Amino acid sequence: MSLSAFSLSGELENIKQQNLYRSRRVIDSAQATHLTIDGKKVLNFCSNDYLGLANHPKVIAAFKKAADEYGVGSGSAHLICGHSIPHHALEEELAAFTGRDRALLFSTGYMANLGVISALLDKHDLVLEDKLNHASLLDGGLLAGAVFKRYLHGNSENLQAKISRSNAEKTLIVSDGVFSMDGDLAPLPDLINVARQTQAGLLIDDAHGLGVLGKTGGGVVEHFACNSNDVPILVGTLGKAFGTAGAFVAGSDELIEILIQKARTYIYTTAMPAAIAEATRASLQLVISENWRREKLNALVAQFRSGAAQLGLTLMDSNTPIQPIMCGDSEQAVKLSQQLLESGFWVSAIRPPTVPQGKARLRVTFSANHQSEEIDLLLSALERIVKNEN
Ligand SMILES: Cc1ncc(COP(=O)(O)O)c(C=O)c1O
Repeated sequence: MSLSAFSLSGELENIKQQNLYRSRRVIDSAQATHLTIDGKKVLNFCSNDYLGLANHPKVIAAFKKAADEYGVGSGSAHLICGHSIPHHALEEELAAFTGRDRALLFSTGYMANLGVISALLDKHDLVLEDKLNHASLLDGGLLAGAVFKRYLHGNSENLQAKISRSNAEKTLIVSDGVFSMDGDLAPLPDLINVARQTQAGLLIDDAHGLGVLGKTGGGVVEHFACNSNDVPILVGTLGKAFGTAGAFVAGSDELIEILIQKARTYIYTTAMPAAIAEATRASLQLVISENWRREKLNALVAQFRSGAAQLGLTLMDSNTPIQPIMCGDSEQAVKLSQQLLESGFWVSAIRPPTVPQGKARLRVTFSANHQSEEIDLLLSALERIVKNEN
């Protein structure tokens, strides 16, 4: 068989020409604020391990103990013979943590979003998504086969206008809680109002808010003092602030039962390893009890924002650990990222199609394990680079 008809080399060349070529770097150390890549030590400012739990001794110990007890592979999907006591216990604990009847584990956040949206909607329905929603939410909306519309970022008036022009049977409003590439928050109270007025369902994917926002890490829902009646469908991921892997949907008993019956990305895939579930149970306890991690993150973010403003860098309207530095041009973003790496700082360049054309950026992220001096080091490196440019 030949792939010549696919002109792969031409396409690859095209991607390179546009400065959109993506490549991977191989890490030779545990996920932490200090990493080794290509034999070189770097300070890591691009991980989503916001609370610094990916490499926490208690999380590792729980993982090891469960691997001894339950083995590594789960053996099958949850509905066959892959659903074990650790999975079940984690679901109950996540339901309690989010203040909902029940929670259902998925193997990734991407799969949770595909599964939940396509289980709830069909071609008679309407899905409305914020323009800057994560790719998995957009793909979930497309996969559902429903009428798919995007509203202006964070703009509830635009959302309401689009709903009022529709005669769909069911309408679902879908939004990131914290926008993954911009770090700003969804206008949750406004979305809740629109959902109430229009009888629409509301799904919030709080992948970047859970664990990080709110006094007990309850995410954007806790931040805005809302509850499960306001946000009936909550998606959370476990590979970010929880430091492990996988995801969950939390909501009413009926919602979870429907997902078990209908969510194809739940039904037709192998359950996450039980050891991951046990590790996540350990990290959940740390998320709840160690509020100092959130307080420290807030202090680091404030320190960075005030230093970056003094340097004249263009930041976004974000108070979360996601702090993009706007570059505009993809070439400029890649160049800055490369210069930082040469100085020992790893900050990834984010380019289209992940962000809109002309909005390439450096996505700086912080962890509770960063030290204040390390923020100063990053700011000094940025200052040197910016001065040399001008
Ligand atoms: C908002 C959002 N939802 C979902 C996901 C996907 O989660 P996962 O990495 O578990 O597939 C991500 C990022 O990875 C995300 O940023």
